[in-house]
Amino acid sequence: MSFPIVVLVSGEGSNLQALIDSVHGKEVEIVAVGANRAEARGLQRARAAGIATAVFPLTDYRARDERDAALAAWIESRGARLVVLAGFMEILTPGFIARFPNAIVNVHPGLLPAFAGIHAIEQALEYGVKVAGVTVHFVDEGIDSGAVILQRAFELPYARDIAVVEQQVHAIEHELLPRAVSLIARGKVSIDPSEPRWVVIDE
Ligand code: GAR
Repeated sequence: MSFPIVVLVSGEGSNLQALIDSVHGKEVEIVAVGANRAEARGLQRARAAGIATAVFPLTDYRARDERDAALAAWIESRGARLVVLAGFMEILTPGFIARFPNAIVNVHPGLLPAFAGIHAIEQALEYGVKVAGVTVHFVDEGIDSGAVILQRAFELPYARDIAVVEQQVHAIEHELLPRAVSLIARGKVSIDPSEPRWVVIDE
């Protein structure tokens, strides 16, 4: 089997779709898709592609730690070598992160470290920045604070219709996330031993 990954989603799942369309069955095998909400449209996308799914709602567990432990055990049972957060809108607990060292990536709709958190595009528009973008990064215990793998910027048009900006962000995400995942699967991504924040890409 090619490089096995699990993708976690909370909503629409357009980034999951981009992975299915561009790298699934090639450099990587999406062995399962997990969600924190049964209504996540990403689950339908996974099923349509014949990929196993599971839902881990916080409300089914006594505490977040317990939910994350169950989620981690399920991911391990699928044999995943990489966990991809593709619009997974919850912060995972340190116990979860520690089980997948340098093996969790996230796509963020902003140029980190600016506008971390869940409203990056709205905050960029409110702030009035002239340049926006997308970051794919490793996940550590902080909020969108792990080492950067890939970033791409674009100039914001003056007409700042949020729907238009979201479309621009998504178009970039749909290229950048599959590219980062493919690079990792092909062993082209490493962390500089002298400085854990520096990600080396060897294309
Ligand atoms: C994406 O824009 C992703 O960057 C963002 O949620 C969207 C999910 O879209 N994630 C975050 O904001 C995480 N902080 P999708 O469900 O269509 O892939």
